[in-house]
Amino acid sequence: MSGPSTHVATPAPKLRYVPYGTVKESPYLPAIRHLISKDLSEPYSIYVYRYFLYQWGELCFMALDEQDDLVGVIVCKLEPHRGGPMRGYIAMLATRAEFRGQGIATKLVRMAVTRMIEMDADEIILETETSNTPSLRIYENLGFLRTKRLHRYYLNGNPAFRLALYLKPGVPGTQTLPPEYEPAPYDREGLETRAAAQLGGMRIA
Ligand SMILES: CC(C)(COP(=O)(O)OP(=O)(O)OC[C@H]1O[C@@H](n2cnc3c(N)ncnc32)[C@H](O)[C@@H]1OP(=O)(O)O)[C@@H](O)C(=O)NCCC(=O)NCCS
Repeated sequence: MSGPSTHVATPAPKLRYVPYGTVKESPYLPAIRHLISKDLSEPYSIYVYRYFLYQWGELCFMALDEQDDLVGVIVCKLEPHRGGPMRGYIAMLATRAEFRGQGIATKLVRMAVTRMIEMDADEIILETETSNTPSLRIYENLGFLRTKRLHRYYLNGNPAFRLALYLKPGVPGTQTLPPEYEPAPYDREGLETRAAAQLGGMRIA
């Protein structure tokens, strides 16, 4: 997504924060697409939105103004990662330009993180442009860590940071490697030592 904007903020109206829910083709779907596509470097098709919203509608939260117009939105998913930890993924986040800087996106991220914790997530990850200061601030304020720099990640050629929030002790050390991956001997030893320390002495296969 694009970098910071220079818009003058409109005073915060009374907002309602609501989940998208389980209704598939919600009347808000066009507004969500419109809001997100405005600031996106990747043009997502309707199928991408349906992929997330049909399956994880309860992990999408919307900020609505007094007229029920969409002011902000977050879209996420949660599923096991390669047979390992339950991994939440924040796919999209946007606040309407004139409402930025008032904590709306922060509140949406908090709601999504809280819901994912309730659903037993082990970790939550996302990518964001390395130059997107507001986005980095939101996530790092909430404890997300930069785990990788992804060169030319976006279609526009810009790099991204992968950010991760680890929710349970030991999760980063559990095996999330693809089944065909055979660690080098020294690597395996390190892995086993870490896992043993975290699992209270149990050895992993
Ligand atoms: C990123 C985005 C969602 C932030 O929405 P928002 O509602 O303005 O966010 P918040 O008000 O909750 O918080 C923004 C944080 O960034 C800071 N910030 C805002 N604008 C900034 C700027 N131009 N430069 C530096 N920091 C900035 C705020 O001070 C705040 O940090 P703080 O709580 O430590 O003070 C919004 O800018 C947006 O929609 N951008 C386009 C889409 C996008 O980039 N999405 C994220 C991709 S993953």
